[in-house]
Amino acid sequence: MNLAILHCYGCLRVILLREVTSAGAVDLSVTIGALRLRNPILAASGTFGYGLEFAHLVDLNRLGGFVTKGLSREPIEGAPPPRLYPTPSGMLNAVGLQNVGVRAFVSEKLPVLRKFDTAVIANVFGYALEDYIEVIRVLEDAEGLAGYELNISCPNVKRGGMQFGNDPCLVSEVVGVARKAAAKRPLWVKLSPLVADIGLIARAASEAGADALTIANTYPAMALNSRTGKSRLGNLTGGLSGPAIKPITLKLVWETRKAVKTPILGLGGIETVEDVLEYLAVGASAVQVGTASFTDPRASQRIAEGLEKVVSEAKMFTLNEIRGKFLVENS
Ligand SMILES: Cc1cc2nc3c(=O)[nH]c(=O)nc-3n(C[C@H](O)[C@H](O)[C@H](O)COP(=O)(O)O)c2cc1C
Repeated sequence: MNLAILHCYGCLRVILLREVTSAGAVDLSVTIGALRLRNPILAASGTFGYGLEFAHLVDLNRLGGFVTKGLSREPIEGAPPPRLYPTPSGMLNAVGLQNVGVRAFVSEKLPVLRKFDTAVIANVFGYALEDYIEVIRVLEDAEGLAGYELNISCPNVKRGGMQFGNDPCLVSEVVGVARKAAAKRPLWVKLSPLVADIGLIARAASEAGADALTIANTYPAMALNSRTGKSRLGNLTGGLSGPAIKPITLKLVWETRKAVKTPILGLGGIETVEDVLEYLAVGASAVQVGTASFTDPRASQRIAEGLEKVVSEAKMFTLNEIRGKFLVENS
């Protein structure tokens, strides 16, 4: 790493920690709208199964929560293999939203998940407006969920997903109908990173009733075998995730923070506590950990515990003092 960058990086850490004055119990809890989370670290949709697959490796009760694999009205088989391909500092995926369908999730997964003391957020996907409404309707009748995350940004399906997420009018429409359907619980909206003006999309989602915004999904991308000219993915194209996308997504969170007051969940390339501090500094209220769980299945718990250690060693306070630090320092 370049020395100048290392220096800046050190400065940011110092700025973040210098503000800490009062000693006391470590309180990592955060509020996202009406929802209170134990800490700001959640595992991200599609990288943590339905949570249960990780329960023997990760103490789910130590997480702020986790977001389920995207749930659709009917089961989806997903994209043809290969579905994953490693890239420099990242990964391509085209899973195609394979999932058991919302009804099987409610009857088979939720009863087991209810035993854990963690926030379970259901990620909701649809090909059309009616699908989003129906998935939420089924979930509304079930106990054990803390909220919903609306995926309007998946790059790996031909219909739905990003088609909704790119147009402020469509964003407004899909969030509006979902808001009406989701009477019981908070509604988070997961945005696409590939938009001309993230502030415009964020405003549309917020005005239509989003309680929080998840910034962001993967970046549409591709990789080829140079000898054969064939794609490395069965779906031909996929979504790029991992450390490679962190600097871009960090800027999107900053831009979103300037545009709206809605709480933001930062998501993209987080592997360390320092990554989390950076997202909080540009205005995120909490973060999600995605691809890191592929190399280290315990990544989310490791980061949550690491954050607690950093906060305690610095004799901190609450995370509120970090949030938006970059905005204040650089306004
Ligand atoms: C294998 C894989 C599957 C994913 N499936 C979903 C999904 O079903 N719904 C969704 O909203 N995001 C999905 N995502 C996107 C992640 O939740 C996250 O937005 C993205 O990977 C960026 O974060 P990261 O760099 O920490 O991985 C998936 C990502 C990966 C790598």
